[in-house]
Amino acid sequence: MSADVVRIGSNEALFRSMHRRYADTPHPLPEWDRLDPSALSDAVREDLRRAWSARVVAEYRSMVVFSELIARLPEAGLPLEVSSAASRLLQDEARHTELCAELAERLGGRQDSTVLRNELRFSDEGLSAELFVGRWTLSMMCVGECASVGLLKTLADAAEDPCVSRVLETLYRDEVLHDRFGWALARELVPRLTDAQREWLSADLAFSFAHYDRIHGRGMRRDGDELPAENPRTDGAERLGLVSPESYARAWYERLDAVILPGLRSLGLAANEAWALRAEAQAALAPR
Ligand SMILES: [Fe+2]
Ligand SMILES: [Fe+2]
Repeated sequence: MSADVVRIGSNEALFRSMHRRYADTPHPLPEWDRLDPSALSDAVREDLRRAWSARVVAEYRSMVVFSELIARLPEAGLPLEVSSAASRLLQDEARHTELCAELAERLGGRQDSTVLRNELRFSDEGLSAELFVGRWTLSMMCVGECASVGLLKTLADAAEDPCVSRVLETLYRDEVLHDRFGWALARELVPRLTDAQREWLSADLAFSFAHYDRIHGRGMRRDGDELPAENPRTDGAERLGLVSPESYARAWYERLDAVILPGLRSLGLAANEAWALRAEAQAALAPR
């Protein structure tokens, strides 16, 4: 399976003009010339380049999930407005991909923002539309996007570079809406499901928690443990959008405790049980 760097930049004028119209209208654009990584050491600049390059892939995959989700919303019995509103979210993810890519380029290149073709198709295992939409609404929005709101706030609060701050503010403002959209969609969908479908979604959440705890928390918190102590970086990286793994993990766990777990419980899902099962879910996913 060949890997490709996320492709940005069409030669077709119509695609470009339509994309620019929605991508540039709702938010002020970063003043790219003001980006100033000159005070950083080569090692810190490389850390930043990698971090922003990795975000390119995450944002791009969000765009793909939204496109698959949109295709199945009508089949799951959701009203027309949900499809229309979800298409705005897809456009936002394209905007995020592009902004992160531009930043990575200006920090030295995004040659490692590669995706495998088989990572651009989300398997549905023959799921019904209700379970497919339920899985990705809960996983990507009620866990993923909801976590992003807390994580981006942490990054934005620490950022000082005007260009990076503008990028983070744009991402943050969009993700706040995505988070709200996800919970609204879950409230519309989950009560209509059978008990068996809700149980399936609760069990499936363990895989989602395993994924997000690995990438955001790096397993820094065992059950009952204190939150990781904040550990401010002193190398200048925070100015350009990179905090320490401890500070990042802390923001994830705070959001999990305050919003994600209570929100999922209020939908009637066994959220705490799923959280407790995340290590088992991770082991089941690990290559044998
Ligand atoms: Fe995004
Ligand atoms: Fe999003």
